[in-house]
Amino acid sequence: MSAQSQVSQPEAPALPVPPPAAAAAGRPEPGSIPRPDFGSARFKADPFAYYARLRAEAPVFPMMIFGHQPGWLVTRYDDVVAVLKHPSLGKDRFSKLSEAERAKMPWFFRYFLPLMQNMLERDPPDHTRLRGLVHKAFTPHLVERLRGRVQQLTDQLLDAAMKRRSMDLVADYALPLPVTIIAEMLGVPVGDRAKFHRWSGKLVSNTSMLETLIAIPAVLGFTRYIRKLIEKRRASPGDDLLTALIQAEEAGDRLSQEELVSMVFLILVAGHETTVNLIASGLLVLLQHPDQLERLRKDPALIGSAVEELLRFTCPVELASMRVAREDFVLAGTKILRGDYVAAVIASANRDERQFANPDMLDLGREPNRHLGFGMGIHYCLGAPLARLEGAIAIQNAIQRLPELRLAVPARKLRWRTGYIIRGVRKLPVAF
Ligand code: HEM
Repeated sequence: MSAQSQVSQPEAPALPVPPPAAAAAGRPEPGSIPRPDFGSARFKADPFAYYARLRAEAPVFPMMIFGHQPGWLVTRYDDVVAVLKHPSLGKDRFSKLSEAERAKMPWFFRYFLPLMQNMLERDPPDHTRLRGLVHKAFTPHLVERLRGRVQQLTDQLLDAAMKRRSMDLVADYALPLPVTIIAEMLGVPVGDRAKFHRWSGKLVSNTSMLETLIAIPAVLGFTRYIRKLIEKRRASPGDDLLTALIQAEEAGDRLSQEELVSMVFLILVAGHETTVNLIASGLLVLLQHPDQLERLRKDPALIGSAVEELLRFTCPVELASMRVAREDFVLAGTKILRGDYVAAVIASANRDERQFANPDMLDLGREPNRHLGFGMGIHYCLGAPLARLEGAIAIQNAIQRLPELRLAVPARKLRWRTGYIIRGVRKLPVAF
């Protein structure tokens, strides 16, 4: 293994990609920059100083993905925007593989493929077709109808917690809200939420090939669960998104069975693994910035801009999902070769001093605030209106109803979840 760092991703185990792009020979090697254990709990607690160094010294930084695939970490705001919109970069590594190519893949990979036929892993025109099937359900107008239900759920969760005078803000508040809402929208039994959260947790948290292998039972369990759910709903349709998707699949050419399974998987996982961290990390950061917390308590109308700033500052999604180069091209003076993987570091772009004044300062009234927390370009977050609604109501309700809210353990004792994409704490014990 070269001096390059190893970054493996659960969502995309090692795959044969087009022509063996260049083992990283001859690439610029910013040797003096240390390579931390990306994805480790320690790194996740505060990756920002490290990214600041990359922005200053090596804005397109070489690394090995999956231990052998040449790739790049891109950290400056303008370059991250370029990556998210670049015509030479694509997402689709899997759907068009021939049987022979599939046979050459590592043996364990066939377990992951059924879940990877979703819009986040596809390029146009498939991406456009898949996104078009669900985008209406997530428009601000339709999402606004959920306001009452989101308010009711946060009230119930806070009522239960207030009787105990303490809670784990993740397990008792930030997590049950988005899981329940996305399950209800899809038509997935809410009682199963612990089960699918456990599976998805295994998939988003792993940081090594070994953990990828260990995640296989979760992949199998999740896939089997979604298939059964589809069959049940096919037999007895409801007034939910799953039924609408099944009808699209039955109508013929718009959605294959594999794409349907994969769509349900993506919406379930993306619909809660992210928002939980906006709510929990958002409240954590407010508790660490009492002046800003007071500002929001006194001026509830600030909540819209507060949520944007908390998204920028906490980065629930640290890295955009991997892009792969379809051809050679130059990015910020660095030659990217066909087949290279490129990771846009959203958490770095959101703290780029070239884009934001005082980027490490929390300012709930920040204006302008063109953060990249929801990405950019065609894969811009489908669920952004829902995440904003849930985040605003959950944060607002907690700080208004719990005036004595405080951390029950020192912040340095908090344990962060491992994994490359998602950023958030495992538990957040609070008292009030
Ligand atoms: C605070 C909460 C959330 C954050 C920070 C977030 C962030 C993101 C980001 C950065 C992307 C782009 C990834 C890339 O380009 O590689 C994305 C895509 C996506 N998000 Fe979210 N997300 C959140 C909540 C949600 C929710 C509630 C849903 C509900 C379904 C959702 C569904 C999706 C989907 C389906 C995509 C893929 C879109 C596409 O490929 O066209 N997200 N999200």
